[in-house]
Amino acid sequence: MGVMRTKSIEQSIAETGEPEFELRKNLSALDLTVFGIGVIIGAGIFTLTGRAAANYAGPSIALSFVLAAVCCGLAALCYAEFASTVPVSGSAYTFSYASLGELVAWIIGWDLLLELMLGASVVAQGWSQYATLFLEKIGIVVPESVAPGSAFDLPAFVLIVVLTALIAIGIKESLRVNLVLVAVKLFIVLFVIVAGIGFINTANYSPFIPPSAAGEQVSGITAPLIQVLFGLEPTTYGVLGIVSGASIVFFAYIGFDVVATTAEEAKNPQRDLPIGIIASLVICTVLYVATTLVITGMVKYDKIDPDAALAAAFESVGKPGYATLIAAGAVAGLMTVVMTLIIGATRVTFAMSRDWLLPRSLGRTNPRTGTPVRLTLIIGTVVALVASLTPIGKLEEMVNIGTLSAFALVSVAVPVLRRKRPDLKRAFTVPFSPVLPVVAALISVYLMLNLSGETWVRFLVWMAIGFVIYFLYGVKRSRMAVEERGEKVPAPTDA
Ligand code: ALA
Repeated sequence: MGVMRTKSIEQSIAETGEPEFELRKNLSALDLTVFGIGVIIGAGIFTLTGRAAANYAGPSIALSFVLAAVCCGLAALCYAEFASTVPVSGSAYTFSYASLGELVAWIIGWDLLLELMLGASVVAQGWSQYATLFLEKIGIVVPESVAPGSAFDLPAFVLIVVLTALIAIGIKESLRVNLVLVAVKLFIVLFVIVAGIGFINTANYSPFIPPSAAGEQVSGITAPLIQVLFGLEPTTYGVLGIVSGASIVFFAYIGFDVVATTAEEAKNPQRDLPIGIIASLVICTVLYVATTLVITGMVKYDKIDPDAALAAAFESVGKPGYATLIAAGAVAGLMTVVMTLIIGATRVTFAMSRDWLLPRSLGRTNPRTGTPVRLTLIIGTVVALVASLTPIGKLEEMVNIGTLSAFALVSVAVPVLRRKRPDLKRAFTVPFSPVLPVVAALISVYLMLNLSGETWVRFLVWMAIGFVIYFLYGVKRSRMAVEERGEKVPAPTDA
């Protein structure tokens, strides 16, 4: 069997009850939906909308958001089916262990770590910029030597230290803070929509899809892979611009899949996880499309500020006070994204360490808090260092490619698991399988091809490191491998 060994669902579920690895079951459908919204709405809508509208799609950026939502929606159905069948922490990682085998599971887990840890670092740097801007507006100046963009980004560092401590204390406590911040964030997004409607000038919508134009001459490694592979001329705007826009604003939707990482902490996962995943995605899609229509209606697409589109749109109509409010909302809003991404990363590594693909001692939960404290501290430290010391602010594309590849594999895994285990109880099923899952996988791959060659190279390097770790460690030491060899399973204390 070797690297193709799969783990039975029954075994995965049984292991969740082992006392040394037990997570507390606290979360309701509403908690999960709030958790989803908390992680979805973030740097994407606050910063990428402007860049993608100005550079790729003009007003039709709203269609890019719809296209990205369709891709995510199809993947969300697949995640929901899995989560309702395999209610075990670890999301896509755990799903593929049950269907596609240990090696693919490890690689997906490795991908998810890229998505979650790099995502947390990228958004923390975005937060740091908004926080510094906001502090300036209220008269506090962050010294240049530790401001965002300097060698040591102090605000990003402090943010992650505080959030990591909160997460280690407990999931319920973290989500209580999350609830307040999500409320602030939703209020700000609704405020942008409601306050902006009155400033819409419908002339700004025409042309809705600007005619395609020769794009900036990007070539070689910075060009989208699809352009390099098929020798396409670079274009911006037009229908292809909508697709390029979608592959970028896809970032704004990342996070609904993180809901599935908390499966074991849900009170009634079979029912509540599909609700949490799908409801958070639908709510965010509606808000995003409305926001982009308002912003592109307020400002002509070629005048949109690519860095802070929302705040700048209000400044341009003579409402600077609104801009300060939006900056404050972004500070609250991005905080929950970082927190949730860190929680997701700890839950994925937790699942991997329970399978002994990572040292098992790392994943032990603390009996007092009911959380994997050791892993939380390790992940928090890595994210804090990456976010404060490295210039990764523009690596959203890396996060996108990691997520899209996980989507593609999870989608393929749905029909595979149905064939392998038709007997399992599925509280939620994807309609029209295998057609819908296959379409979901194809759209994900197509969006991946629209990302730059540079991103692909970095992604392949990350994967190569993952393979090396697996073949040096997990292939022999995983719990499945040990059991397959018929060896005695060591008691928890010898781990
Ligand atoms: N979807 C999250 C954001 O936009 C990652 O920040």
